[in-house]
Amino acid sequence: MGWRDRPPILAHRPPIRRRWRSAIIKVMNAIFSEVGIVGAGAMGRGIAQLAVQAGSTVWLFDTEPRAIASARDAVVAQWDKLVGKGRLDGAQAADYKSRLRPADALASLAACGLVVEAIVERQDAKAALFSQLEVLLGPTAVLASNTSSLSITALGATLQRPQQLAGFHFFNPVPLMKVVEVIAGLKTDPGVCDALASFARQMGHTPVRAQDTPGFIVNHAGRGYGTEALRLVSEGVADFATVDRILKDQVGFKLGPFELMDLTALDVSHPVMESVYHQYYEEPRYRPSVITAQRLAGGLLGRKTGEGFYRYEQGIAQVSPEPGAPVVDEMPPVWLSPRAARRAELLLLLKQLGARIETGPSPSPHALTLVAPLGFDITTVAAVERLDPARTIGIDMLVDDATTKRRVLATNPATRADMRQAAHALFSRDGKPVSVIRDSGGFVTQRVVAAIVNIASDICQQGICSPQDLESAVTLGLGYPLGPLAMGNLLGPTNVLEVLFNMQTVYGDPRYRPSPWLRRRGAIGLSLLHQED
Ligand SMILES: NC(=O)c1ccc[n+]([C@@H]2O[C@H](COP(=O)([O-])OP(=O)(O)OC[C@H]3O[C@@H](n4cnc5c(N)ncnc54)[C@H](O)[C@@H]3O)[C@@H](O)[C@H]2O)c1
Repeated sequence: MGWRDRPPILAHRPPIRRRWRSAIIKVMNAIFSEVGIVGAGAMGRGIAQLAVQAGSTVWLFDTEPRAIASARDAVVAQWDKLVGKGRLDGAQAADYKSRLRPADALASLAACGLVVEAIVERQDAKAALFSQLEVLLGPTAVLASNTSSLSITALGATLQRPQQLAGFHFFNPVPLMKVVEVIAGLKTDPGVCDALASFARQMGHTPVRAQDTPGFIVNHAGRGYGTEALRLVSEGVADFATVDRILKDQVGFKLGPFELMDLTALDVSHPVMESVYHQYYEEPRYRPSVITAQRLAGGLLGRKTGEGFYRYEQGIAQVSPEPGAPVVDEMPPVWLSPRAARRAELLLLLKQLGARIETGPSPSPHALTLVAPLGFDITTVAAVERLDPARTIGIDMLVDDATTKRRVLATNPATRADMRQAAHALFSRDGKPVSVIRDSGGFVTQRVVAAIVNIASDICQQGICSPQDLESAVTLGLGYPLGPLAMGNLLGPTNVLEVLFNMQTVYGDPRYRPSPWLRRRGAIGLSLLHQED
């Protein structure tokens, strides 16, 4: 199956029927027979539901008694719904309900072998809770934090038994997001992580192991998509809607980066961008954008405020229609650079589109001059190849034309309007949509894909997780159509490396320096999933 055929972003959520079926897990001997959940909010209730379904007796505690009742009601309603649909046996539902128990005091959790906290995201509150639990629970009890952004090592530093504490990071909504990060702090006993990983499997989730680093795996690997898209817009390459269309149609993302930011809302996504950037001491690969800072300040948060990058009417994004292909009376002949990426494929495409192709060593005075660089902008290619910039247009050929649903052309500052229109009309002849963008080192797709692959490669280089766990975390946690390393392999590690090298030349920005993981594997033609013996 090619990457284009794979389910796009967020479509990783299986259809409703399959989702529910997979939520019902046969009661088994849970690794932890008694589990405490502290914090009965959005996350705590989901974790409680899965722990009960895995076979544990669950004690649910919250400082707000109303939160416990409402969490229990919500989970019970889910089970009742399943019974109503015939997907859960009534007796099993009754058993589930009997094992989801409200705790009126923290002391009720004393016999638990595992306590998962999902309280407010504050270091002081979590540290105080763990200190209390440590006194209350037996010496072998496991303490787990669902924190998204706090260091497990730092949380453990104030404990008597830091070896018993690990991160157990679920995603929202917990029953549907089938991945959980198991995070080891510097002092965590590896056996604690093994037990949590086994319990995650009993809950029907895929555990991925991460070292205690900012953003762990998913929130770290996700930095490339939005930040590079924001750079493209801030550089004036294309508008939000065009970038979204290109990445959906060329790569297979279900949501474009701006649609995604509108869904998650900027009051959530902008602070994550800033937090990972600062925690990595201003690593340029994660650099956030003034665009989101300003829109956040202006209250343009996304869907939930009715306006973000798009304006929403009754929940539907208002998007201006794309400009149609221009009508061109006389199509000029086309000359294709000998250095074009996928040149043979491009020549065949030009023939299929009925272009008059010039075969001379240089373009005739009237020819539309076509280039297809990797990482370089059109201006640089025109200058280096001594082409007339007024007639030079670029096409992004990183992704095979046969598999992409859209073609992307780029002009340079000198490109004449008649040449731009001719290229737009020519490449639209078979009905495939065409986006024409301003000059960009790496168009849109090359830049964004290279940023994603590079960050993922560096996560592996730093030993934060294994390549396989990275792929699982990103496909299940972010819903990308393919794991970043598989994406890099499909496009060719050497091509991705070339894109980054050339982008570094164009922009002089260390943001684009290739990770040693990618650099070495790309240089000697190894898979990006390859691990050293
Ligand atoms: N919501 C998400 O998308 C998401 C995803 C992954 C991880 N997380 C993390 O999970 C944790 C919980 O997030 P949430 O979205 O469920 O929050 P929430 O606000 O929905 O629920 C938090 C609950 O904790 C209770 N609480 C606060 N302090 C407490 C304390 N000291 N003792 C007992 N109960 C206390 C509150 O009354 C509230 O009911 C946070 O650490 C958050 O960063 C959230």
